[in-house]
Amino acid sequence: MNKLVFFGGKGGVGKTTASSAYAYHCREKGDKTLLVSTDPAHSLCDIFERKIGSRITEIKENLYAFEIDPEEESKKYINNIKRNMKDIVSPIIVKEIERQLDAAAVSPGSDESAVFDKLMEIIIDYQKDYDRIIIDTAPTGHTLRLLSLPELLGGWMDKLIEKRKKAMELYEMATREDKKMESIIEKDPVLSKLNDRKGKMEKVREILTNGDLVSFVFVLNPEKLPIEETKKAVTTLEKYNIHIKELIINRILPIRTEGKFWENRKKLEDKYMLEIEDVFSSKKLIKIPLIDEDVKMDNLKYISNYFEGLD
Ligand SMILES: Nc1ncnc2c1ncn2[C@@H]1O[C@H](COP(=O)(O)OP(=O)(O)OP(=O)(O)O)[C@@H](O)[C@H]1O
Ligand SMILES: [Mg+2]
Repeated sequence: MNKLVFFGGKGGVGKTTASSAYAYHCREKGDKTLLVSTDPAHSLCDIFERKIGSRITEIKENLYAFEIDPEEESKKYINNIKRNMKDIVSPIIVKEIERQLDAAAVSPGSDESAVFDKLMEIIIDYQKDYDRIIIDTAPTGHTLRLLSLPELLGGWMDKLIEKRKKAMELYEMATREDKKMESIIEKDPVLSKLNDRKGKMEKVREILTNGDLVSFVFVLNPEKLPIEETKKAVTTLEKYNIHIKELIINRILPIRTEGKFWENRKKLEDKYMLEIEDVFSSKKLIKIPLIDEDVKMDNLKYISNYFEGLD
C-alpha cells in the first residue's frame, strides 16, 4: 500500500480495528507510522486503552496516534477568523459577522468541514515526518463526502468568494471611509480564508488522486448491506479518479461451526464471500476472522498477521 492509507466502510464493519491492526503491521516492519482518527465517536482510545486526543501520542516505538476533535477544530477555525477580522472592519460589522460565525459553528456540517481542514493540514504538513499515515475514517457516507469535498468545494468556493466580494461592496458604506474598496477586499479576512482554503483544497485534491501516494481500503463484512454499500462507494470514488485496490473482509466466521444456527449463518456467509470474490475479482481481498473477544492492544498483533506480506 502507499504512504497515505485511508480506511473506509459502513458503520461498525471494523474500520478502526483494521486501520489499527494495519498501523501495527507497518510499525512491526519498521515504518514510522501515524494513525489518525477522523471519527467523531473516538475509538482508537478504546483499542489502545489510553487517552489519545488531539495531540500526537506515542503508543509504542514508531507508532503514533492522533484523534481529530471536530468540536475543538471548529472552535479554533472560527476564533481565528474572528481574530483576523477585528482590525479591518468596523465594530458594528464585527458584531454581525461574529453572530453569523457563531451560528455557523453550531450548524450541521461545520464540524465536518473542520475535520476536513485538520485532515488537509495533516496530509500536507506531516507527510515528511512519517513513513506511513493511516487514516481511520467515519462511516462511508461521511468519508465519501469528506473525500469528494475538494472536488465539490472547488466550484462552490468560487461562488462563495464571488458572494463575499459582493457582500463587501455592500459593507462599503459602513467601513472606514479612507479606505478604497479594493484594499478592503484585499484585506478581508473571510476572503483570504476562503482563498486559502481553496488553494489547500486544490493541493489536497492533487494528493488524493495521486495513485502512487494514496491508497483507499474498504472494510466490509460478508453480509448483504456492507457489500451493497462497498459497491456504491467503489464506483463513486472511481468517478473521482480514486481507485481501490484492496478490500478487507472482516469478521469471517470459523470454518467449522457447531449447531444449526451457526451452520446456517456460515452458509449465508459462504454465499456472500462468493459474491464478494465475484464482484470484486480485480481487488486484493484481505480476510480477517471474527475473534472471540473485544479487539484490544493484546490481540491487534494477532489481527495484524493477516496483513502479512502486504507492503
Ligand atoms: N475481527 C473481529 N473480531 C471480533 N470483533 C471485532 C472484529 N472486528 C471488529 N470487532 C469489534 O466490532 C466492533 C466494531 O469494530 P470497529 O470499531 O473497528 O468498527 P468501525 O467500522 O470502526 O465502527 P464505526 O463505524 O463505529 O467507527 C468493536 O467492538 C470491535 O471490537
Ligand atoms: Mg471506527
